[in-house]
Amino acid sequence: GAPVNADISKLQPGQMLTVAWRGKPVWIVRRTPDMLANLPNMDGELRDPASNESDQPEYCKNPTRAVKDEFLVVVGVCTHLGCAPLYRPAIGSPDVGDDWQGGFFCPCHGSRFDLAGRVFKAVPAPTNLEIPPYRFVSDSIVRIG
Ligand code: FES
Repeated sequence: GAPVNADISKLQPGQMLTVAWRGKPVWIVRRTPDMLANLPNMDGELRDPASNESDQPEYCKNPTRAVKDEFLVVVGVCTHLGCAPLYRPAIGSPDVGDDWQGGFFCPCHGSRFDLAGRVFKAVPAPTNLEIPPYRFVSDSIVRIG
């Protein structure tokens, strides 16, 4: 499939936008400083915090799983059976739990991912959400694929 350009110039901190790439949704989340600061706190609760068993380009195998820390670019397909997880960025969530620190929640079988798409322990999804190949063409354009 052809690469797809996403315009992130209007994306506000904390917001997510979705673009279609190869028939799949790709999410771009503009993470806030608080969201980024909280990522290391999740490590002990995650199955694969360093993404050793997960699918991402080598240049995204880092603590934020990103080219630029502020922007998460991730395939929005649950690594369990392919459902669409929900974006639940806030701390605490009625459908996930009071102790929820923000991330993605899959309603099909309850898999949970943090704001770097990293999977929590004791959920059905085996690996972190996939990071597609991408690069910044400019400050406002991300090219996926
Ligand atoms: Fe997401 Fe099963 S498809 S938890």
